Amino acid sequence: MSSQPSQVSPPPTKVRTICCIGAGYVGGPTCSVIALKCPHIKVIIVDVNPDRINAWNSDDLPVFEPGLDEIVKQCRGKNLFFSTDIDEAIRQSELVFVSVNTPTKTSGMGKGFAADLHYVEASTRRIASVATSSKIIVEKSTVPCRTAASMRTILDANSNSVDEDGSPISFQILSNPEFLAEGTAIRDLLNPDRVLIGSLDTKEGKMAAGALREIYENWVDGSKIYETGLWSSELSKLAANALLAQRISSINSLSAICEATGADVDEVAHACGLDKRIGDRFLKASVGFGGSCFQKDILNLVYLSESLGLKEVADYWQQVITMNEYSKSRFAKKVVQTLFNTITMKKVAVLGFAFKKDTGDTRESAAITLCRYFRQERALISIYDPKVSNNQIYLDMTEPGVIDDGAAVRSQVAICDNAEDACRDAEAVVICTEWDEFRQLDWQRIYGRMKKPAFVFDGRGITDANKLRSLGFRVHTVGKGPQIMDPIWA
Ligand code: UDX
Ligand code: ADP
Repeated sequence: MSSQPSQVSPPPTKVRTICCIGAGYVGGPTCSVIALKCPHIKVIIVDVNPDRINAWNSDDLPVFEPGLDEIVKQCRGKNLFFSTDIDEAIRQSELVFVSVNTPTKTSGMGKGFAADLHYVEASTRRIASVATSSKIIVEKSTVPCRTAASMRTILDANSNSVDEDGSPISFQILSNPEFLAEGTAIRDLLNPDRVLIGSLDTKEGKMAAGALREIYENWVDGSKIYETGLWSSELSKLAANALLAQRISSINSLSAICEATGADVDEVAHACGLDKRIGDRFLKASVGFGGSCFQKDILNLVYLSESLGLKEVADYWQQVITMNEYSKSRFAKKVVQTLFNTITMKKVAVLGFAFKKDTGDTRESAAITLCRYFRQERALISIYDPKVSNNQIYLDMTEPGVIDDGAAVRSQVAICDNAEDACRDAEAVVICTEWDEFRQLDWQRIYGRMKKPAFVFDGRGITDANKLRSLGFRVHTVGKGPQIMDPIWA
């Protein structure tokens, strides 16, 4: 890509209005925080989905994030707006964030691996067709390496507008991946480890990067803003998620060894994490990682590696996913085997359905895999989650394309208003999400109301297993094997 000819209008250097296309888990919180920290900038978040926009304009926001409600209430109607008028928002703005979804493709070339970029493409085409002034386009969504090149081609081929001075308008594309984690999004946005801005190494590219840097400098120390090339920035997002997921799969693989030997995975993780080179984060053994990013991004990396002819690299990263699938199925099998090899018509209580605590998001949640497995074993499942809606749970439990499965799900799956109701008359409690309230349950009362023997399967390592055992429970915690002296499991 060469620099723009001189008669072309340059990229904006001062941003007064921002448009964010996509009012989801990334676009909504990110641009709400920008509005909070930049009262001099007007921020318009747009979406094709009117229900989502109505929800953002109501008291019941479509995304649950601690601290988000307060920020939206403070800024909405002042310098923060939610709208379905995408064209008008694009026209008004100097900078457009593209924060649309990029799910894994479910059909066609790259099915099951490659990112489905048609939402990114649709947004790019829309920007090209309605823009009447030069703009900075910022990739916020996680995209495969070199997506900016495709965006550039689409923009160049679909825009012949001139600005009010008669100069052809220009677009500068930046990559500015979002590193927020759900549940801590506001904290992560207010105090990021780093802000990454990728641009082309041209005068115009650097000008655009400077304009975006200036926005972040309203609250982020300049030393934390790291400017790179476009392709490095795009790949860094995939790489960061792959490395984080790899740590979880690594500790989960060790949890299987711990269970077989009597070692304690928390002790092993702590001992390893004390080495500063390793560190203690993302080493919590679990039933398996979930969320919209880790699996999708690794599959993307696998696809990229294969497309580049790097089979060994693809195989290496694929193993992180394989280990995650193994973690979930190993845990599910443990439940069935322990309940005397059958859970048919047995009531199994599932505590937590979100992929982690402090979010209502269920995308790729381990609970979905487990519950589908329990369904196949014909168990009666009672689910409680503090934030996930009943509709979402039923939707996630229904096998797509299976006729009448919705009715079958409702006859086999009950959704409860609290954890104690879910556990009543159950033979086993399976903890899938580490919600804080599950640490404070009245286990004595729960035990009194369960069938005996009463089992607890802790997929998150949040219960005091010895205390539960003293109440009469039989407990299995991921990564904690039977101690040689343990009379219950010996
Ligand atoms: C992740 C990245 O952390 C974030 O930087 C990126 O922008 C988006 O993807 P998110 O998916 O929201 O964020 O949550 P995260 O906290 O990373 O957890 C992902 C999954 O891993 C969850 O299911 C969580 O329970 C699991 N996990 C996390 C573990 O099983 N063990 C751990 O030690 C940490
Ligand atoms: P993420 O977790 O990446 O934020 P979400 O699915 O939560 O993903 O949000 C993405 C949002 O982008 C959705 O609300 C979707 O309706 C919106 N979207 C997708 N394509 C377009 C488009 N072409 N124009 C406007 N909004 C779009």
